[in-house]
This record gives sequence, C-alpha cells and structure tokens, in this order.
Amino acid sequence: MELIVLKTPEQCANAAANLVEEQLNRKPDSVLGLPTGKTSLPLYQELVRRHRRGQLRLDRATTFNLDEYLGLGPDHPASFARYMRERLFAPLALPPGQCHLPDGMAADPCAEAEGYEARIREAGGIDLQLLGIGINGHIGFNEPGAPLDSRTRVVNLCSSTLEANRSHFPPGEAPPAQAITMGVGTILEARRIVLLATGRAKAHALHAAISGPVSPEVPASALQRHPNCVMILDAAAASDLPPAIRTGRRHAVTTSRDRERRQSTDRS
Ligand code: GLP
Repeated sequence: MELIVLKTPEQCANAAANLVEEQLNRKPDSVLGLPTGKTSLPLYQELVRRHRRGQLRLDRATTFNLDEYLGLGPDHPASFARYMRERLFAPLALPPGQCHLPDGMAADPCAEAEGYEARIREAGGIDLQLLGIGINGHIGFNEPGAPLDSRTRVVNLCSSTLEANRSHFPPGEAPPAQAITMGVGTILEARRIVLLATGRAKAHALHAAISGPVSPEVPASALQRHPNCVMILDAAAASDLPPAIRTGRRHAVTTSRDRERRQSTDRS
C-alpha cells in the first residue's frame, strides 16, 4: 500500500485529481468508481476546474458510484444521485447513460443490487476506484462486520453512520436505515484504488485500517490486500499513524498483512 501525507485537504484533492487525470490520459474510456461525502467535494471541484480549463476529459469515461440510500429518489436533496448530478455529472456535461448509481427506489432492491454488480462486470470492471472512509472504518456503505468477499447488496446502516450523515438531510428528516452498496469484494476487484481521507475525525479509523489486522470489523483494512492501492491523507487524518509514516510525504507502507506474509515466507 502506498501512503501520501500532505498538509491540507486542498493539496490532497489536487493529488487525487492528478491520479484521475493520469488514468484518463492513459485510458480515456476508463471505468471510474466514485464516492460521495464531504471529503470528495474539493476533489470534484478540482476535476470540474480542470475540465473547464480543457485539461481533463471525461466524455469517454463510464462511472459507477459506490452506493445509494434505499428509499431516496434522484431528486431528494440527500440522495447520492443528486449529489453526483450537481457536483460532477452536470458541470462536466456527462451523458446520463455513462453514469451509474444503484437505484434507491427500485421495487426489488436485491435484484437491483445484483443487476448493478452485473453492469460493472459488463463494463469490464473498474479501472480506478476512488474511496472515502467512514469514522468507523467503512468503505462505501460496508459497515463493520461486512464480509471481505461481499458483493453489491442491500445493507443496514450503523447508528454512528446515520448520525454522521444526518446533517445532509432536511431538519427533522432521519436518514434511511438501509442502502445498496458495492461489496468489499467488489471494491477490491478494481484495478487501482485511491482512498482520500481528511480531518482528525478519520484518524482512528485510518490507524486501524493501515496498522491493524485485516478484519471485517474494519472494512477499510481489506485494502491492505490490494496490490495497487494509494491512500492520500492530510496531516490531521494521519495524526494517529506512527511518526515514521506520518512525517514522510510519500511512503510504501508495511501493513500488518505484509508482516504476516513475510512471517509465513520465513517459516516455509
Ligand atoms: C458515506 C459514504 C462513503 C463515504 C463516507 C465518508 O457514508 N457512503 O462512501 O466515504 O460516508 O463521508 P465523508 O467524506 O462525508 O466523511
């Protein structure tokens, strides 16, 4: 796993935008996996800025979002479909047929989840998956306990996640308790993963994900198993990591998974 620690969220957004740009230069028809959340906003703003400058073209790309609340339609102010439309798809004038999100209003949510997984496969799989992380270590909406080989499915959300996301909802309206999310296994199949995390609130989860064992209790720890994963953190998000990791700007991190692998090679 590679770790990039920068001072500010803006620098992190810029570094992530560089990786998106590189990916699209290399393969203009890339399949991108996209997150929502506050962390991604400066990244999407930067992508829009680069698009307006003519530096970035997404017109041949296909996108798949990680997740959507069950029961929210695309016009609900807190739906991820609306977030994506307003922050990225409309400013970049992406044709709707190229941008995919799970349908939160599907009559049969389980069939919708299966169909979504099939659509990702039919598109050739995800080339670059962008990720955020929840304060409890979730990725997408894979909450603690999510099987590491899980696929796109309907999930129940933790109370801490509902609390963290409450501010996106109109006053007095509670967030839905269920969502459709890509699974941890689905995410791990992406050819490259870039996780972006900023702010002190994420420090504990990142320490567990990077320095702790690979465990369903910390879904983001599964990223230790991925051969091509970069984490871009600001100083606050990296503040619980060991100083040797935190102070270097760019690092190949030895995760607990690497240590285990080394020990078993030493034994054999
Ligand atoms: C949400 C999304 C995740 C996102 C996370 C962090 O619950 N399902 O994909 O990464 O929360 O959000 P934020 O960036 O707002 O902290």
